[in-house]
Amino acid sequence: MSNQLDAIAPHGGELINCIANEAEKKEFLAQADTLPRVQLDGRATSDLEMIAIGGFSPLRGFMEQKDYEQVVTDMHLENGLPWSIPVTLSVTEEEAEPLKEGGWVRLDDPQGDFIGVLELTQKYRYNKAHEATNVYRTDEEKHPGVAVIYQKGPINLAGPVWLLERKPHPLFPNYQVDPAASRAMFRDKGWRTIVGFQTRNPIHRAHEYIQKCALETVDGLFLHPLVGATKSDDIPADVRMRCYEIMINNYFPQERVILAINPAAMRYAGPREAIFHALVRKNYGCTHFIVGRDHAGVGDYYGTYDAQEIFNEFDPESLGITPMRFEHAFYCKRTKQMATTKTSPSTPEERLHLSGTKVRAMLREGQLPPEEFSRPEVAQELVKAMQAN
Ligand code: ADX
Repeated sequence: MSNQLDAIAPHGGELINCIANEAEKKEFLAQADTLPRVQLDGRATSDLEMIAIGGFSPLRGFMEQKDYEQVVTDMHLENGLPWSIPVTLSVTEEEAEPLKEGGWVRLDDPQGDFIGVLELTQKYRYNKAHEATNVYRTDEEKHPGVAVIYQKGPINLAGPVWLLERKPHPLFPNYQVDPAASRAMFRDKGWRTIVGFQTRNPIHRAHEYIQKCALETVDGLFLHPLVGATKSDDIPADVRMRCYEIMINNYFPQERVILAINPAAMRYAGPREAIFHALVRKNYGCTHFIVGRDHAGVGDYYGTYDAQEIFNEFDPESLGITPMRFEHAFYCKRTKQMATTKTSPSTPEERLHLSGTKVRAMLREGQLPPEEFSRPEVAQELVKAMQAN
């Protein structure tokens, strides 16, 4: 496929597509009952999907040892391209034992349905503590990303993958826009500069503020909520998507915004995940990427602006997507508008900040967060959803 007309090339230059074609699918189905099986968890299922649709270009499969180790220690692939998060398929000793390098493995989703195949090129052991401290900057198991590492088996299976077929998303078929499609949409709209927005939370006024500040300087806004696995106390994706629909219908110029789902799973790796999130949006065709306060963070593992500072460690050209950094935004009671300390003369007492925990507690009690925090229609939607649970 030619990317010549796109504003930005995919990471590594080529958009990967490893969705089986009709002939391959037929062949895989014919072998389905004879191949050894591995059952994927939610994250690995999302990773398979992201690899197949090109969201993780240039990755063509689960990482081999050299790529894995270089990514963990040095945030680059063996070929020198920036890459900050390992994408691996970890299994137990018992699962790995019968699998032969050079053979094929059937990949099933968590429900046991056949969804893809792996050409197993390598099996290797890895060091969990080393991965945790490098990627997550902690080996505490109460960090949700680190917890996943410690739950997983000790052996990584690597090699190219194929997704058996691209099925419509069960909840959001209309928002399933894969990288080739988002690139085509941007081209059709004539957008040359596009800012991507990652989120796993319901949209609030600070989100809206930084999205619109960014949109002031680019052609289009690509709202890209993550709908893969998140922590159990994060707000479910269907609720978040409804909030986005409300916002776009009421508060955004519709012709300058595209809403689409990001099927990836959340890692909560803070700074390293910010780089990863940016590279994924580059693959979707974005030229810019919003990084606000404590991007992809959890608890107090990361400094407020660590996820912005990490971009300084990379050669901007090899990253190929430009971060748009935003300070902590709040409602300024003195100037009666959203602002940051860069634009507001307020004292700390004049700033309205609400933590996610505080907002969740209010919603559970049926209390609407104030209009300065959340648009009223969104607040009502959130209260309705929390009370239905
Ligand atoms: S994240 O885990 O996906 O980063 P969230 O959905 O809360 O969580 O954030 C989406 C983006 O908005 C991130 O870039 C984050 O840094 C930014 N952000 C969230 N709240 C604020 C805020 N009050 N001020 C500035 N940026 C913010």
